[in-house]
Amino acid sequence: MKAPIKVTITGAAGHIGYALAFRVASGEMFGPDQPVILRLLEIPQALSSLNGVGMELEDCALPLLHDIVLTDDQAIGFRETDYAILIGAKPRSKGMERKDLITENAKIFSSQGRAINDHASGDVRVLVVGNPANTNALIAAANAPDLDRTQFTAMTRLDHNRALGQLANKTNNLVADISRMTIWGNHSMTQYPDIGNCLVKGTPALELVSRDWAIDHFIPRIQRRGAEIIEARGLSSAASAADAVVDHVHNWALGTPEGDWVSMSVASDGSYGIPEGVVFSYPVICKDGSYEIVQGLDLDEFSQSRLKASEKELLEERAIIADLL
Ligand code: NAD
Ligand code: LMR
Repeated sequence: MKAPIKVTITGAAGHIGYALAFRVASGEMFGPDQPVILRLLEIPQALSSLNGVGMELEDCALPLLHDIVLTDDQAIGFRETDYAILIGAKPRSKGMERKDLITENAKIFSSQGRAINDHASGDVRVLVVGNPANTNALIAAANAPDLDRTQFTAMTRLDHNRALGQLANKTNNLVADISRMTIWGNHSMTQYPDIGNCLVKGTPALELVSRDWAIDHFIPRIQRRGAEIIEARGLSSAASAADAVVDHVHNWALGTPEGDWVSMSVASDGSYGIPEGVVFSYPVICKDGSYEIVQGLDLDEFSQSRLKASEKELLEERAIIADLL
């Protein structure tokens, strides 16, 4: 039997955490022959609720779940962890933008960045979900000087999956028929969902849908989908967010399918003119536990202006939290 992978989930008693922990423990993230140890980290006020999550996990009698650690101590929560999934943070409510959370949530990620630096495995892979996710990932990475910034990512996989769903509906195809979807930029209203390289059963998507549909309907729908869900549920997305976490980490750890790519927010290496270090969503190919930004895609003037808009917003967010870097 393989050695267990240690996975830390912060905010594990919250809505996303509750939807996620059972899926990691049942093998959906790392596969049916890979045992896991869950380290669930919460704030002291949520420990009673977290104990309940722990009991339910126990009651599932999941063969791959080798141990569960429940704690409000970051040193214990991140000890020797292989994957740190940083969800614990305040969600926005109706009428707010994600960046309105910045001052309240940012300090969580400077403290957790330091704790990950000091206690996690040297190869730890970090996924930031708590909003504003891209800037929080930048903060966490900046506070972990012994780790490489490529070890820190933020989640735009939910936007990617939303985009697949909308294009599949529009073209009367299955999501599995679509490849090469891309989300560029920030997990925010300025993100750029791009079907310019998408193939639907091998046919370019732009031969099946009009550019007007993409600009007037598809792009704004994906940009606003988080708000649309808050409007409908009174709460932000949780099960779909947990599902995107499973997908993001699964591909990072085990690779992307041949001929396809996924969207991940990663530290820019200057690709496509984005300043180095900015945590920006790119198309990436994953293999053997690492990722590479897909190079050489053509970006027309419209696309370039969309990337610039997201870059500008990320630089503005960075300026607000400059004291935490
Ligand atoms: P929630 O309020 O249901 O749960 C958050 C949990 O985090 C709570 O249990 C809280 O006690 C805990 N928490 C707060 N501070 C913590 C800390 N310092 N350490 C550990 N735990 C802490 O919220 P939720 O619906 O689970 O959403 C969590 C975050 O994820 C929000 O910021 C939300 O906006 C964001 N989100 C991001 C995406 C994305 O695609 N990137 C998608 C959905 C939600
Ligand atoms: C989402 O995209 O659903 C999340 O970022 C939650 C939100 O605030 O929209």
